[in-house]
Amino acid sequence: MQKKIIVSGSRPTGNIHLGNYFGAIANWVALQDEYECNYFIADWHALTTGYAETKDLRQNSISLMADFLASGLDPSRCTIFLQSLVRQHAELFLLLSMNTPLSWLERCPTYKDQLANIKDRDITTYGFLGYPALMASDILIYGADYVPVGEDQIPHLEISREMARRFNHLYSTEIFKEPLPLLTKSKVLPGTDGRKMSKSYGNTIALADTPEEVRKKVMGMITDPARIRKDDPGHPDVCTVFAFHKVFNESEVPEIEEKCKGGCIGCVSCKKNLQEKIAAFHTPIYEKRTELLSDPDYLVRLIHEGSDKAMTKAEIMMKKVRQAMQIDF
Ligand code: TRP
Ligand code: SF4
Repeated sequence: MQKKIIVSGSRPTGNIHLGNYFGAIANWVALQDEYECNYFIADWHALTTGYAETKDLRQNSISLMADFLASGLDPSRCTIFLQSLVRQHAELFLLLSMNTPLSWLERCPTYKDQLANIKDRDITTYGFLGYPALMASDILIYGADYVPVGEDQIPHLEISREMARRFNHLYSTEIFKEPLPLLTKSKVLPGTDGRKMSKSYGNTIALADTPEEVRKKVMGMITDPARIRKDDPGHPDVCTVFAFHKVFNESEVPEIEEKCKGGCIGCVSCKKNLQEKIAAFHTPIYEKRTELLSDPDYLVRLIHEGSDKAMTKAEIMMKKVRQAMQIDF
């Protein structure tokens, strides 16, 4: 039986952190064998908001590749590629943009939201408005059945479905599938300060952080503010360290909860315990990515190989698209 097809992408905007890992990448890794997976570095997407600052784009794309591989994505089991090396995405983006109603783009909640909130750069651009059409191209070009995405991407996926439907209708074809979101339960990690983990809050633990930095960040985590002395009863539910134990140290969670509530463990020893558990997870990934990044030529070669594979698939779809639109000379 044919495997169902998956597409997902990630912007090369900096280092993958544990929030990204548990929110998305871990899930990508888990899907590799059951589905035909296509995962990509969305460098063109990074330009939709970051068009003016491209100096780190190349390095960020290479290090995202290292993060992918160190996290367990395997080029022999899935297709990993760079968006800008598969020019067919741009061709489909252009063709879809011809028949995408402006109103679909303008009413997109993330568009309105970011327009109101991003003040440090000018995103009143054509490319930023059209970003859901680029995302639709990424997805439809591989005939994706499912797209593993977070809640925030659901409106974009809905636009992709509408675009598929509209294209099929306009050109009396059935070439595009309507992709469905694949919402899998993921482990939720807060940032080191208890808010959502995000680069803009400066509260991340990155795969690229050294083991020493990670230890320091764990020591600096916000705990239950009501606990001053070791024998004060604690409230693990409001403690960031406890939230991390739930992810990295599941088996000890009931014990820690009981001892914390009873005032029988101190926060420092609780953090030391967590340091060990996070290190057991983080250090091997850190070492793997460091090793990979010592040979950037190898990473670039893998990026090209994956992109060639992706291009072969994308071109098959584009032949059908050109034919449906009567532009296949
Ligand atoms: N829009 C996604 C983001 O900003 C990245 C992305 C681009 C994507 N194309 C995609 C995700 C296609 C899933 C499928 O994070
Ligand atoms: Fe948090 Fe652990 Fe301190 Fe309890 S003992 S408040 S769980 S760090």
